[in-house]
Amino acid sequence: MLSSVTLDARVSSSGRNSTAPKDCTTAAETALQGELGLSTGLYPTNNLYMNDLDRVDQTHRGRLLVSCACGLALLMTLESIVGSILAASYFPTAAGAHASVARMHEAGILQSFHYWASALSIVVGFCLLVVGTWLGWYKSSNRGPYVASAAMFFLAMAFQVTGNVLPFDRHGVQTAAIESGIAARMPIVGRATSKLMLAGDQFGESTLQLWYKAHSLLLPTLFVLVVILLAYPLVRNRRTLSAVGVALPTVVGLVLALLVRSPFGTAATPADYTDFSARVSWYTWPMHGLLHMFDSLRPGLGWIGAGIIPGLFVVFVFSLPLWPRKVGVAPSRIGLGAFLALFFVAGAVFAGSSASLIGTRDPAEPVRVVQSSTGQAKIDPALVSRGKQLINSVGCSDCHGADGLQGGAGPSLKEVWKQHSDAQFYEGYIRKPTSVSPDSTMPAFADLKQQDLQALAEYLRSPK
Ligand code: HEC
Repeated sequence: MLSSVTLDARVSSSGRNSTAPKDCTTAAETALQGELGLSTGLYPTNNLYMNDLDRVDQTHRGRLLVSCACGLALLMTLESIVGSILAASYFPTAAGAHASVARMHEAGILQSFHYWASALSIVVGFCLLVVGTWLGWYKSSNRGPYVASAAMFFLAMAFQVTGNVLPFDRHGVQTAAIESGIAARMPIVGRATSKLMLAGDQFGESTLQLWYKAHSLLLPTLFVLVVILLAYPLVRNRRTLSAVGVALPTVVGLVLALLVRSPFGTAATPADYTDFSARVSWYTWPMHGLLHMFDSLRPGLGWIGAGIIPGLFVVFVFSLPLWPRKVGVAPSRIGLGAFLALFFVAGAVFAGSSASLIGTRDPAEPVRVVQSSTGQAKIDPALVSRGKQLINSVGCSDCHGADGLQGGAGPSLKEVWKQHSDAQFYEGYIRKPTSVSPDSTMPAFADLKQQDLQALAEYLRSPK
């Protein structure tokens, strides 16, 4: 990285520093350079050049971004090629998916590379987006590469979300169901969106097939368009690149794939389609935090955090190149800082624990309050019918369906009475779900009156 930066400085200040020595290009790099038509980024480090970076022309300063953006494109291209090799032995069915991925997982490196390249492309894309925005690269002649980097970041996220379910392990299936459940919370369009995401009313095999199509056809097509957007102006303007910047992401991806095995859990069962106890995946961590943050402001507002705020971030990023030139970089830096602070604080404070990046990501068994086997209070029918009304009037039915029995963004509550017969469990759960199940995505209903809580609990614990 450092050497690429100094290359920028050298090129930009070539008038003054034309006598600087250029003697550390290795034979291997010269070969690579010839092959790719690139110039290498190796150059003696000198603080003077580093400080010059601020004064140099945008075009030159952006060379690092351009090289790394090409590096990201290279990484994602290789990842796609590996993906299509893997696809040849993949079965997108509930019965076949896990077994076919298990065989790939056994075979090793290809599947591991696909996994790590995917994680890495999110990280690299994010860094490019942040650095590019901070330095105002979207204003320069590197507008195209800037937009392409941002697009690659969001595509990498979409690849990750859709690809996560393909192994059909417990974590993948549960998180996919949670993600669609969160979408279902949006007012007006929520139901339709979740139906579209699930390819039906509930998570199932058709969901897997839909996500697989998105992952293997739709997203790769968009990726090709982005690569064209990135490459066309570079080729036309005969831009030179730093070989280090181009190669770095792929090299890191290969090293990770060789050293660390990708995670893989046990096969999902239909019980996982409606179980929501999976831990948060690292890449959805800020969204999950925002979901909880807004829910804690007012139950039911979580969709603003999980959907609207990330949506505004996308709009913000892609609108930057359109801002008038006379607007300096300060407003966009403030905007960027505000978004990042919000994402980070929400993630750190509200998101709970996250799933491990390696090893098995199988969800822990949800924390269940031990039910007392004796001396349960008798069910009070009047309280039950009041509870049933409350389920529909205080908003439970938005997620658990009419009377709480149909399910939707949350599971159907028809069978819960078989697991818990004590009223305290339900009262505690409704008031603050995370106090019972730490990774719960259900909003807290802290403002409900005690008598309403009692009625709800009575309804939930009554046999149905
Ligand atoms: C925004 C959606 C949403 C709303 C509104 C909601 N829930 Fe939930 N609920 C969930 C989700 C999702 C789960 C799954 C587990 C989890 O994440 O806690 C859940 C789980 C539960 C469970 C535990 C089920 C089990 O098997 O352990 C109970 C009980 C419950 N909800 C009751 C209620 C009641 C009562 C209300 C209304 C006061 C309500 N919920 C409102 C989403 C919601």
